[in-house]
Parts: sequence; C-alpha cells; structure tokens
Amino acid sequence: CITRRTALAAGASLLSPAWAQTANPLVVKFSHVVAPETPKGKGALRFKELLEIRSGGRMRVEVYPNSQLLKDKDELAALQRGEVQLLAPSLSKLRPLGVKEFELFDLPFLFKNRGAFNDTAQTFGRTLFGKLEPSGVRGLAFWDNGFLLMSANKPLRDVDDFKGLKMRVQASAVAEAEMRALGAEPKVMNFSELFAGLQAGSVDGTEGTASNFLTQRLAEVQRHLTLSNHGYLAYALLVNRAFHDRLPADLRGVFDSAVADATSYANTIANAENAWALGKIKGHARVSLHAPQASELEGWRRALMGVHATVAERVGPAALQAAYRAAG
Ligand code: LMR
Repeated sequence: CITRRTALAAGASLLSPAWAQTANPLVVKFSHVVAPETPKGKGALRFKELLEIRSGGRMRVEVYPNSQLLKDKDELAALQRGEVQLLAPSLSKLRPLGVKEFELFDLPFLFKNRGAFNDTAQTFGRTLFGKLEPSGVRGLAFWDNGFLLMSANKPLRDVDDFKGLKMRVQASAVAEAEMRALGAEPKVMNFSELFAGLQAGSVDGTEGTASNFLTQRLAEVQRHLTLSNHGYLAYALLVNRAFHDRLPADLRGVFDSAVADATSYANTIANAENAWALGKIKGHARVSLHAPQASELEGWRRALMGVHATVAERVGPAALQAAYRAAG
C-alpha cells in the first residue's frame, strides 16, 4: 500500500499543480439509469475497467447504475454542475441542454435498420455535439441500444387499441406527440419509477427496448409486447466539459482511448443483447408477443407520420431534411 501511494504521488508530481496536490486517484463518477446487464450498463463497466488499467490507477471510475445516484430528470443538471463527470442519457432526454435537433432521433420510423441509425449519429449527430459545448457539456460518443417495442396489458395491434391508455414516455416532446397521435395519453415518468408505475396502474403501458423490458422485469407487470420497431433508443455519452478540458494531456489521451474502446464494445454488443433479451421474453409464460402484420404497421405509420411535421415546425425544415438524408 505504501509503495502504491508513493508511486501514485510520484506520478502526480509530474502533472500540473492542481492535480499534483492529490495523491489520490482522480475520480470519475458515471451515473446512469439502467441495469448493469444492458448494453449501456456493460459499456460503462468496460469504460471503468479500461480507464483504470490504462491510467495505471491514477483514475478511478465509480459507476452508479439503476438511478442509484441520480434520476434521469436530475442527471443533466448534475453533470453541468460537475457533481458527476459522465452520463449516457438517451437522445430523447437532452431537451434541457437546448439543442432541439436531437429530437429528430426520436422521429417514428426514421431508421430502417441499425446501420441507418449509426450513419445518422456519425454525421448529423456529430454536428449537434458541437452545439452542446456552450451548455458546459461535451458529447463524446453515441451509444446504441435498439428499436423500441410497445407494451401494455392488452394486445396493441391496431391504432384503435391505444384509445384511453396512459402510456409512460421519456421526457421527450416527440414521444408525447407520438402517444397522442396514437390516441393514448402520454405520461412523462422517470425510468426508475416505471416498474412501480405499471404495477400501481398509474400508467398502463410503455415503449422500450427488449433489453430494458427484460432487465426492468416488466414481464411481471405487462402481458403484451408488440414488436413494432417504431422508434429508436440510443444514447449520448456526455462529459462535463471543464473536467475534460482540465485533464492533463497524458490522462486525457488515456481517457479518450477508453471512451473510444468502450464505445466500440457497447455498440458491438447492443444488437446481440437485445436479441438475447427478446429470446428470454419469448420464453416468459406471462408475456404474449405480437409481430404486427404489414397492414397493422401501415396504420401505425399513418397515425405517426404527422409527428414529423410537428417536429419540423420546432427544429426547422432544413434540419429535418438533414436528418432524412443522413438516415438514407
Ligand atoms: C428510458 O427512460 O426509457 C430510457 O431512456 C432508459 C435508458 O437509459 O435506456
């Protein structure tokens, strides 16, 4: 222990005075709202492992899963204040940062497949990261999850099936508009309150990926799941900008390399994790899965496509066209 401390202190003395004052490792708090056994949860743990090894113990990552530290409504403000250094909120939840164009990622039926999401993130999405800087937050990477499915305690086949249902949505104007377009009543709710809300009946259903459905144990409170793939769930890996700027050059390189490799890992496993989760849900006696007929999906599409025009009014037609072009 003494040897290790001495080694760390010696390392620290090579750094700028601010960092040299502490012999303790520099702590990175990474808060998120999902279970550790999800693409994001596993990506966060991979980042921890990589950064701690590559920094030779000079940086320590504390990962707080399952909203243990922060609920999603409090995450962004805490990042801006520097109370945590890293987050990976869904693109649907970035509204407080004031870059409206992220809403485009929530558009129904925008992405034909995962590749289309990825292309959009790496081109159009990257340009939006630049707009986050004035908010004190830096976008580092996009982390994938997958297509959204729709669940309730009754089969959701036709648009008519949504009438009168209260549906939990993320804090996204687009998601709210979508539920209204389907004839349901949207209810914004923290992810950490989803299970209890469904159990208590304050909401009747929700949208989400197979991975989140499984790891939040929603099979216990939702009997029907429609494989609608009507929207997409993905994340922005965000760092507190001042923290990132002030990292000494050597640690910054190590930090950025851990980000790059944890990102590749998280994005490589996302598809398989969701396929695996869907397999588990299929095996669950309580849950019936519905693969919508083309004619049923056409009805969803007709009801939901009006949301594109609403979003265009908020973000402007040029941004909408840019997102369409990127999505192919
Ligand atoms: C949700 O609130 O449904 C998701 O954003 C949760 C998550 O982080 O996957």
